[in-house]
Amino acid sequence: MKEFHIDIPVQFFALDELPQSDQDLVRKAIDMTGTSYSPYSHFSVGAALELADGQVFLGSNQENAVFPVGLCAERTAFFAASANAPDVAPAAIAIAARNAEGFVAKPVSPCGSCRQALLEAEMRFGRPIRVLLYGTDGVYVLPSMRSLLPLTFDGTELV
Ligand code: THU
Repeated sequence: MKEFHIDIPVQFFALDELPQSDQDLVRKAIDMTGTSYSPYSHFSVGAALELADGQVFLGSNQENAVFPVGLCAERTAFFAASANAPDVAPAAIAIAARNAEGFVAKPVSPCGSCRQALLEAEMRFGRPIRVLLYGTDGVYVLPSMRSLLPLTFDGTELV
């Protein structure tokens, strides 16, 4: 038996320590929690996806009484970007979330389905998507979607 470990590089910043453009993106994600439709979970998530040409697409989680019909904030933003600017690579995504008590202290990170969807865009464009995860304790910064989804199923075996 052999064993190997996979390290994930996570940088941890105070919000005002980030470069201005990253701060702006995080603040857009924070603002977008205000448009969440989440009467079932009462968990409001906002996402701001910046493209390589500077366009920003925004999203928030959208729920439904038929629970699986709803969609996460990250894919709401990403699918809007992909539909409206299909030829432009995503460059960075910021995510923020709050519950009934306020914004979460420890950053929330994207679910597996959102990681999978964004990873495919990262591969398709051959450009990493930086990930900025907001919490009141600080902001986690990861270099790519792949770093959040190691041992990936990326479709390359489909032939
Ligand atoms: N949710 C997101 O929008 N993004 C995440 O990263 C985690 C979860 C949403 C889905 C659902 O509307 C609510 O949060 C509770 O899971």
